[in-house]
Amino acid sequence: MPTPARIHVAHALHEVFGEGGRVPDIWDRDLGEDAHLAQALLGLCLRRWGRLQAWVKPNLKDPTRGVPLGTRVALAMGLAQLAWLPGVSDHAAVNESVELAASRELGFLPHKGLVNALLRRAAKDRSALAAELDALPPALDRTPAVERALAAALAPHGAEGELEVLWARLQKPPRPTFRLLKGEVPEGMQPDPELPGCLHLPEGESFPRPWLEASCGMVQDRSSQALLAYVWDRPVTRILDACAAPGGKTTSLALRHSGAALTALEVHPKRALRLRQTLQQRGLEAHVIQADAAEWLETASGDFDLILLDAPCSGSGTMQKHPEWPWISHDDLPRLTGLQRRLLTAAAARLAPGGLLIYAVCSWLPEEGVAHAEWLATARPDLRPAEVWPAARVAGREASAGATAFFRPNPIAWEGEGFQGFAVERS
Ligand SMILES: C[S@@+](CC[C@H](N)C(=O)[O-])C[C@H]1O[C@@H](n2cnc3c(N)ncnc32)[C@H](O)[C@@H]1O
Repeated sequence: MPTPARIHVAHALHEVFGEGGRVPDIWDRDLGEDAHLAQALLGLCLRRWGRLQAWVKPNLKDPTRGVPLGTRVALAMGLAQLAWLPGVSDHAAVNESVELAASRELGFLPHKGLVNALLRRAAKDRSALAAELDALPPALDRTPAVERALAAALAPHGAEGELEVLWARLQKPPRPTFRLLKGEVPEGMQPDPELPGCLHLPEGESFPRPWLEASCGMVQDRSSQALLAYVWDRPVTRILDACAAPGGKTTSLALRHSGAALTALEVHPKRALRLRQTLQQRGLEAHVIQADAAEWLETASGDFDLILLDAPCSGSGTMQKHPEWPWISHDDLPRLTGLQRRLLTAAAARLAPGGLLIYAVCSWLPEEGVAHAEWLATARPDLRPAEVWPAARVAGREASAGATAFFRPNPIAWEGEGFQGFAVERS
């Protein structure tokens, strides 16, 4: 039997490459110490899947024949361990992959011998294997969806020529970023030089679990923190967070505008429950409502001085944290852009005179961000762009002074998820 860590990795790879699905957030929860090996192995297989498959092809007797997913998974896992995980012995890398190939559920039994032969041969010179794999073109690991997302990320900054630089950056596992909620900066954490309250964990420092459990801080991406560092000094008494779970931005809003009445909407019951619990643990008050935000906004009464619409999106800006993104199905993009438009229409209708509406998505695709801003400018001419972000920080190196109403960090110069956002105010 392969170890649970390898079985979990194989399941995750089947989910992504067999079903086009995402790796579930809690896929490695019960692995204990083995979670590190599993995370490293899954990350390597996902980030280098194209090259691993390209290496296998010419080593087959008949390279033109299709190879079942069970064989591809077993081979990718074996090769990744041999090439890039020097702490894993030859024996473990080869034998456990052969056992996986023999598994009824996860492998393809007729190819047990093939997996054994290929991996044994590769194990004879692991450095040569790593060199061969590393020498294959990185573009093999990119799908058309990735090419389109990267082009969309770079074009607004005139940086189309830097696609390989951006892709190389996205292949490095991201540095975790935190937000200080109360108390002192814990020892070992580094304050971000640009964003007050944003903290980094230097390499080698242990994950600050007790500090997080005491609600003194939270994990929050640097782009989310920069988005919420908007400059806005009009009075705010009623706030709406329209798509709120898991509650990172609700927390920031509650702390920043303490005293204001905060309503937080979330459509999924489990996520709404988690949002309520998180806010309670942090000692923050908000009226959490489990509802479809568009329906709720279209039917409930009252308006808001500040509305945040952190809309559901394709997540194209999160592929550094989610290396499965290139390989999952993106068929639901039209549904998502339709939902975003409906949510934006409904939110804009509930903005109080003098109020501020911020729309954001963790995606670079123009149809999820800039296209909605352009549409809104025509549909609601009474809403003006609100220049609430320092341009030097969030518009990239092409803008160094003044403020901007469009939040779009240059992905080459920015450490953080890919984000797009815009702000409008009602006169
Ligand atoms: C990008 S996430 C929000 C992240 C959150 N603002 C934070 O910073 O922690 C989008 C959220 O919107 C929720 N959602 C999706 N469709 C929705 C809808 N129609 N109404 C309300 N919430 C929705 C999703 O379940 C998800 O939790």
